[in-house]
Amino acid sequence: MTQRIVDHPILGSIEEKEQVSFTFNEKEYYGMNGEPIAAALLANGVRTLRHHEEKATPRGIYCNIGHCFECRVTVDGKQGVRSCLTPLQEGMVIESGGTLPTPVKDWSAKNE
Ligand code: FES
Repeated sequence: MTQRIVDHPILGSIEEKEQVSFTFNEKEYYGMNGEPIAAALLANGVRTLRHHEEKATPRGIYCNIGHCFECRVTVDGKQGVRSCLTPLQEGMVIESGGTLPTPVKDWSAKNE
């Protein structure tokens, strides 16, 4: 069961749009063809898209315009894909953003 506006006065009825299936972390979901991956996940109640590399805190949509990279996920094996900008397609295999190399080094060990 998704959480969506099903009949918008400007955007039209959701029944007019093609539904596609995809997986996120090996669980199957449904979304609208061409909508941003982040929107499809949000409509399915998924708010945590990855975890912070150093603090492991949950991360999700922040700017929703492609600037912050907080929403990055792995799509069909490609890491670092911004889910707020990437259109959903049938059969996509999406995983939480993997741990990428951290830009912040732990300098404390070097100073000891
Ligand atoms: S939410 Fe900021 S880049 Fe996607």
